[in-house]
Amino acid sequence: MENTGIKIENLRKRYGEGDAAVEALKDVNMHVAPGEVVGLVGPSGSGKSTLLKCLGAIIEPTSGRMTLGQEIIYDDGWKISDLRTLRRDKIGFVFQAPYLIPFLDVTDNVALLPMLAGQTNAVARARAHELLDALEVGHRANAQPSQLSGGEQQRVSIARALANRPPVILADEPTAPLDSERALGVMRILNQMALQYHAAIIVVTHDEKIIPTFKRIYHIRDGRTYEEAGQGRSL
Ligand SMILES: Nc1ncnc2c1ncn2[C@@H]1O[C@H](COP(=O)(O)OP(=O)(O)OP(=O)(O)O)[C@@H](O)[C@H]1O
Ligand SMILES: [Mg+2]
Repeated sequence: MENTGIKIENLRKRYGEGDAAVEALKDVNMHVAPGEVVGLVGPSGSGKSTLLKCLGAIIEPTSGRMTLGQEIIYDDGWKISDLRTLRRDKIGFVFQAPYLIPFLDVTDNVALLPMLAGQTNAVARARAHELLDALEVGHRANAQPSQLSGGEQQRVSIARALANRPPVILADEPTAPLDSERALGVMRILNQMALQYHAAIIVVTHDEKIIPTFKRIYHIRDGRTYEEAGQGRSL
């Protein structure tokens, strides 16, 4: 099977049972091609985090189908036994806060995941340096996270999300704490990385600064997705 990016078909997620049940996702359909960055926008409680958690194999959907990269990971039940390895090797997470490990320097923060995935120290560090250079924080490779600015820390956390070359990157409000120029800088980097590493990227956001940059946006309302053409403003 070739790399399909992210494909979600008829996905449903119900929390709880009986009277207390919440239908968080009712019928979600999305496709993000390799190399594409799409926005996911919706009001509070519409199911955005639930969807990212299902895709990230953090919670189990109720029914439907999810394909990530080259494999069907869920089809009315998990299709793979080792969800930890899936999360580590196939999915890069970028959060609103960078969550860098404070006692590791910048290079080791990025090299840690490839090392856990079985790469040699030399390969993992070379990969870290390549990504840090691409993200224009290579000159801070030996610094401790606490010595970096907020924007620099966010770029290191993007390098970390990309370090295992995952076919899928899930970003939850990655630009919320950043000013306009840096928020657009993060979007420029995510778009470059999508093209360079053929990653399919979903960015959950409320951020009016970056919404005009998406070529395609999925709106989620009451557990259902609606696709819309975005402005695709150049970065
Ligand atoms: N663990 C849970 N148990 C029961 N209901 C839940 C649980 N997590 C979320 N929900 C419900 O599912 C619905 C979707 O929640 P979700 O967190 O996905 O929304 P969201 O779009 O991320 O909202 P926000 O923008 O506020 O972060 C909400 O009605 C929420 O109350
Ligand atoms: Mg949420």
